[in-house]
Amino acid sequence: MKKIDSYIDNRMISILSLLNDGIVITDEKGFVKYINPAYTLYSGKEPEAMLNKHISELRPGAVLPQVLETHKAIRNIPRKVGNVESYCDYMPIMEKEKVIGGLIVVKDVVRIKELIKELEDANKTVAQLNQQIKNSFSAKTTFEDLIGASMGLNEVVKVSRKAAKTDSPVLLIGESGVGKDVVAQSIHNGGPRKEMPFVDINCAALPENLLESELFGYSEGAFTGAKKGGKLGLFELANGGTLFLDEITELPLSLQAKLLRAIQEKKIMKLGGETTKQLDVRIIAATNKNILDCINKKQFREDLYFRLAVFVIEIPPLRKRKKDIHLFINNFINEQEKKKQKPINISEEAMAILMDYDWPGNVRELRNAIEYSCNTIEGNVIEVSNLPPNILKKGTLLMTTDLAQKELSLSEIIENAEKQAIKFYLQLYGSNMKSKEKIAEVLNVSIATLYNKIKKYGLG
Ligand SMILES: Nc1ncnc2c1ncn2[C@@H]1O[C@H](COP(=O)(O)OP(=O)(O)O)[C@@H](O)[C@H]1O
Ligand SMILES: [Mg+2]
Repeated sequence: MKKIDSYIDNRMISILSLLNDGIVITDEKGFVKYINPAYTLYSGKEPEAMLNKHISELRPGAVLPQVLETHKAIRNIPRKVGNVESYCDYMPIMEKEKVIGGLIVVKDVVRIKELIKELEDANKTVAQLNQQIKNSFSAKTTFEDLIGASMGLNEVVKVSRKAAKTDSPVLLIGESGVGKDVVAQSIHNGGPRKEMPFVDINCAALPENLLESELFGYSEGAFTGAKKGGKLGLFELANGGTLFLDEITELPLSLQAKLLRAIQEKKIMKLGGETTKQLDVRIIAATNKNILDCINKKQFREDLYFRLAVFVIEIPPLRKRKKDIHLFINNFINEQEKKKQKPINISEEAMAILMDYDWPGNVRELRNAIEYSCNTIEGNVIEVSNLPPNILKKGTLLMTTDLAQKELSLSEIIENAEKQAIKFYLQLYGSNMKSKEKIAEVLNVSIATLYNKIKKYGLG
């Protein structure tokens, strides 16, 4: 069997003398055979004073003899010589299951402490960034926040609550402004992923190439101009949580194929990447288009549709949810009362017009209409004249009366309508000379006729 001395040749020495860690090599009995320059720094002893001495003689209570006996390494033992602190590893040097020597490695505790501190700092930064990701990718609305008492909305909430408990994809269908976003958020918050990110992207907002890297990310050097370190895609950011794909029918066909694969295989490959990454993402998609139409026109993949359409939730337009219109109006007026710090009411006529309007922009338009109205009132009451001009169409006028319930004669109905119409325009345009000229023009009557009617109905 070779002796340890034969290993300690010039080549070995030149390498070991480069290390910052202190190195001591002994023979199989524990007699010191080599010390590198760094060890001298830790021990304060010159090599000549140590060579060929037994390690126990140099350091009473030395650990190495035990290691040579048991053949088992002992690591990270703290040690202090004077003011110098270090950590030591003790190892047997084996050959063919026999001990031929011992090795002591002395590691600088200051550096290790620095590294620990650096690691702790880095961990803190990661935790902060994670928190930031959570904050910026979070869903605010919950089922409890949703307003509505109509059958239509109740049905939506019922199915959505069921969907929230599962991991299955959801497809939300409805006109713009009906509440697809808030329902998607409620589904996320109503399920087990609520503490995880809710990431949303509007598929119509970006051109194809940007959309792809936004969704799937790219690896470093994927293309000229790619950021150093690559880019994390939204899919990956949503890991563990929910990805909300708004206006899904606007996703280009090539990306539809990629999305389908990602959903089916539960993994993605970055642009320019070579490996796939396993992900756990719940998909909620939304559209305001007729998606079956898009499939017929070959603009949307049928197989992707079937993947997404596990829960299909159609949110009815606001005009079909009359009960909700009333609730929303009161709610949005409350919001404005808080903002403006004054009580606000709405006149019966104005309310009737809002109830009858067809709301092509749905809840979003209604919220804006109330905000507009509250900005134009002088006192505390929203009058017809405060409503946004586009809502004040002629056709809505007659609906402000509840004629049918009163069982009036035809001439009474006509008179009533006439009175309502003139009253409406007086509120809208005002009652000075100029306004009256304008009203006569709009109603296509002479100014004299208008004056007569104003007098007749006591509106002047
Ligand atoms: N049921 C509801 N309860 C409370 N607010 C709603 C409801 N439906 C819609 N909204 C509000 O209406 C506006 C439009 O809703 P949003 O979810 O963005 O519609 P969509 O995504 O369908 O265009 C938002 O301000 C939202 O807060
Ligand atoms: Mg939306």
